[in-house]
Amino acid sequence: MSETIQLKIGDKTYDLPVIQGTEDEKAIDISKLRDLTGYVTLDIGYKNTGATKSAITFLDGEAGILKYRGYPIEQLAQKSTFLEVAYLLIYGELPTAGQLKEFQTKINKHTLVHEDLKKFFDGYPSHSHPMGQLTGLISSLSAFYPESLATPQTPEAIDETIIKLLAKMTTIVSWIYKKSLGHPVIYPQNKFDYVTNYLYMTFGQRTEEVTIDPVVVDAMNVLLILHADHEQNCSTSTVRIVGSSDSNLYSSISAGISALWGPLHGGANQAVIEMLEKIKADGGDTDKWIAKAKDKNDPFRLMGFGHRVYKNFDPRAKIIKKACDDILEKLGIDDEVLDIAKRLEEVALKDPYFVERKLYPNVDFYSGIIYRALGFPTEMFTVLFALGRLPGWIAQWKELRENKEPIGRPRQIYTGATTRDYVEISKR
Ligand code: ACO
Repeated sequence: MSETIQLKIGDKTYDLPVIQGTEDEKAIDISKLRDLTGYVTLDIGYKNTGATKSAITFLDGEAGILKYRGYPIEQLAQKSTFLEVAYLLIYGELPTAGQLKEFQTKINKHTLVHEDLKKFFDGYPSHSHPMGQLTGLISSLSAFYPESLATPQTPEAIDETIIKLLAKMTTIVSWIYKKSLGHPVIYPQNKFDYVTNYLYMTFGQRTEEVTIDPVVVDAMNVLLILHADHEQNCSTSTVRIVGSSDSNLYSSISAGISALWGPLHGGANQAVIEMLEKIKADGGDTDKWIAKAKDKNDPFRLMGFGHRVYKNFDPRAKIIKKACDDILEKLGIDDEVLDIAKRLEEVALKDPYFVERKLYPNVDFYSGIIYRALGFPTEMFTVLFALGRLPGWIAQWKELRENKEPIGRPRQIYTGATTRDYVEISKR
């Protein structure tokens, strides 16, 4: 017999079904709770609420485990490429060599961006924040490809939109970077693979034949793989809730990009480097800044530390810390902020404040140091996170549709004024 949980309200007892996942995690199914009892649940920040059933990503925050479609993140980071991981997340299985080639070929056909969108892009001030540009440009793709707005859509039409978005994202992201330098944009060359093409458009020059350093390509693949999905986080939940109203893929992803921008989420990678720079300029006294982070009267937080679900360690942070050491060594870069970051980590991991609250470095503690070593300006870091997260958002949006999930619409507990009579303005 399937497991149930008993809920007692007054003299009535209700049997609530228990849902069990494939990794044995359990949930109490309250989907009929309001109809049965008149009560709703309250869980501000959704700390205990499962919003969906998903077969894409599994993570165990207590054990520090992360898997995409069952494959451990450590294996994917070491052995796979970003495009292969994108295929895995979106279609559910690792591709055969033929499927991967076909995927790359289909993407290559769509890497050009409509010239009229470029006119719109040209209108942004050169120093506008890259994330502001990215949300606008991705949402605007829906205006250029109105066939993406039709509902319902065939799986083939959805796939066409997915391919276009994956293809145009690299071009748009590299153009935003070029604009920040005041340089002319570079058009894609489809002889390159996905990541190399992106790096070519980013670091290439119009006038010369460019070879992209394989060390940089490898580092970029690892970074993008580590960011590719992370189950129901703030931006992914945003993509799913926007998508649940049957909103098109471009605008759903654009909403996710906006959610990612905040410093408590993807914007942390920019905030970490800014914090490390500030500590360096202040003389590099890490104890002073640890004390500030612990002081409840001081708004300062140790950026890149803490995570809503990881309460042991973030497995991505382990991989990234090693990648950071490797890439700096291979590129022959000695970055003082890396030493500050390591000192901060060492002190914090022994400090009772951080130990008791289970605060560990997250994926973004070291990612910015690598992005900087590769030559990216700080304001581009969160855009790079978005480039990595794109396949995860797409997979989650696609799953929501395939599962025919209802529109997302939470309840609330109203705490405002009860009924009162309108008072004429002259009498207030
Ligand atoms: N520095 C100092 N104290 C912290 C930090 C930090 N980075 N993070 C959490 N705390 C403290 C809180 O003050 C709180 O203390 P209290 O119990 O005495 O009040 C306790 O730890 C729990 O913190 P919450 O904010 O309640 O935890 P929550 O799960 O809501 O937030 C979050 C998680 C947002 C990631 C938080 O740890 C944080 O702000 N970290 C810094 C920003 C950051 O690195 N974000 C990136 C996350 S990874 C990602 O999104 C890709």
